[in-house]
Formats: sequence, structure tokens, C-alpha cells
Amino acid sequence: MGRGVGFGKVILFNEHFVVYGIPAVVSAVGAKSTALVERMPGSGTELRDERPESPGYKAEKLQQQKESLDIMLKFMNIDTQHDHYVITLGGDLIAASGVGASAASCAAIARAFSEELHLNFSDERVNEVAYEGEKGYHGTPSGIDNTAATYGGLIWYRREGSAQLMERMRLRKPVEIVMGNTGKVADTKVIVAGVKERKEREPEKYGRLFQDANQLVLNARKELESFHLEKVGAYMNENHKLLQELGVSSPELDTLVKIARDTGALGAKLTGTGRGGFMVALTPGRELQDRVANEIDRHGSQAVRTLIGI
Ligand code: MEV
Repeated sequence: MGRGVGFGKVILFNEHFVVYGIPAVVSAVGAKSTALVERMPGSGTELRDERPESPGYKAEKLQQQKESLDIMLKFMNIDTQHDHYVITLGGDLIAASGVGASAASCAAIARAFSEELHLNFSDERVNEVAYEGEKGYHGTPSGIDNTAATYGGLIWYRREGSAQLMERMRLRKPVEIVMGNTGKVADTKVIVAGVKERKEREPEKYGRLFQDANQLVLNARKELESFHLEKVGAYMNENHKLLQELGVSSPELDTLVKIARDTGALGAKLTGTGRGGFMVALTPGRELQDRVANEIDRHGSQAVRTLIGI
């Protein structure tokens, strides 16, 4: 039996912009996905998905999940004609939009096959496989999610042509965040394609947004590394505004962002694909984290308490 893990993630700055080469900041969160792979006589594959989920997520992603698995198997040169594989997904990362669930499962699957078949994949190889797997879900992924899922930690990420560039960042100490789930499943492929289409239609407006996002993340990086959390929070708020202008927020996300800010979060924004999925609030200290999480729960949405910079 081969085993593997992949980290869940939260994008702190510049989802979507990152697809076009603008730097972004991503952090692994405490939760992970796991995969078990068992080789048996026969042929074909069987995928058992035992991850906890946001209602409806797995059914909506089933076709993309199948495509993703096929792409990865082909890329890893795994013969499913003469062997049968049972793949079981688990772990404590919720299968939902915005937390890197697809990438975490891809990295976990790559690692589990590597162990089961003694392929000795390096992290770099796992990342390559997970990137291919992400194509089943994203179409044209920037590579940020598979990078976070593979390596964990806090990462400065930039795409340059086909190169995926990552730099490790350090925080003085881990910081509490709250992630709030709108409960809506988002289709990354469709939403990323929508940004592309609008960008081509309104080059001037989008050019300005991209410039602002580039400057913002450079400033935010300095404040993160200096541990000026109030300023980091203010930049998260500004980033949310840019993402709203990009057309990837939603009334549900905006409501949760407002609740978090009104309850004292230093900053809040959507995270990941947007339109649904999760938002993130910066809430240093257990007390503030609890206060914001309780308020989101009271609103009827699911709040997840976790840390960045671990
Ligand atoms: C999704 O987690 C992040 C996006 O920027 C897409 C990508 O980078 O591939 C929306």
C-alpha cells in the first residue's frame, strides 16, 4: 500500500492575477489530504473519495476528478491495463472550493503512487505530476495551488512563461486566520476563462488592475516579513477590492468579508477561485479568531480556524 499527503492552502494575495505572471502569496494551512494506493490484479482504477466535503462539491467535481486522474496516470506512465489500482482519498482537509482541495489530492495521489510502485519521486516530480492533474480542474493553472500542496509553508509564487518560480517566506510566528465557507461550489475553469475574456474586452481597465495588484503584493510582502499585521490586513482589504473589480467576488463572499471586518479582523478577502468557496480573515490571537469564527458560524456559514506560516 502506498501513502501520500498534500497540503491545503490559502491564497493571501493575488489569485487570478497570478495566472498572468503577477506574484502571489500562498500559505499552507494545517489541514491535509491523504491518498492510499493499492495495486491489485486486474485492470482499471477505482477511486474512493472519503474526504470530508462541502455539500455537493464531490458530485460537481466528479467528471473533472476523473479527467485529472487520467492525465496524471498517463503522465506517470502507469499501466492500468495489466494492474488494477484502488485509490482512497482521505485526510482532514475539507473538499471545497478555495482551499486547494484539488491540488492537495493530486499531490497526495502522486506521492502514494510513487510509494506503491517505488518510483522515488522527488518533491519536484510530485509537483510536476500535481500540476498536470490540476489541468483536469483548471484548464490553465498558474501552478500556485500544486506548489503549495506539494511543499507546504509560506510561499512567494510567480509564473514566468512556463517556469513556476517559488521562494520560501518566513513569518516571525504562525498567525491565526479564519476561513469562511460560502457553501457554493466554484468552477475554476469557467471563472478563470471569464477573467481572460473580460481582460481581452477591456484591456485598459484590466491593465490598471494588474498594475495595482503587482504593486500591492510587493508592499504586502514587506509588511508580512516585518510582521506588521495591521498593514497586512489593510492590503488584504485592498486586494479584495481589486478582485471585486476583476469580477470574481460574489454577494455571499462580500457578506462574509464584511462580517469578519465588522467583528475586528485586521483584513479579509476572498481566497482562491472566488464566486463561491472560501474567504479568509486575518485574526491574530485565539480570542479574535474565536470571535470572528463564532460570528461567521452565527451567520449560518461554516468557519474554519487555522494558521498561516506554519
Ligand atoms: C485558484 O486557487 C487560483 C487561481 O488563481 C487559478 C490559478 O492560479 O491557477 C484562481
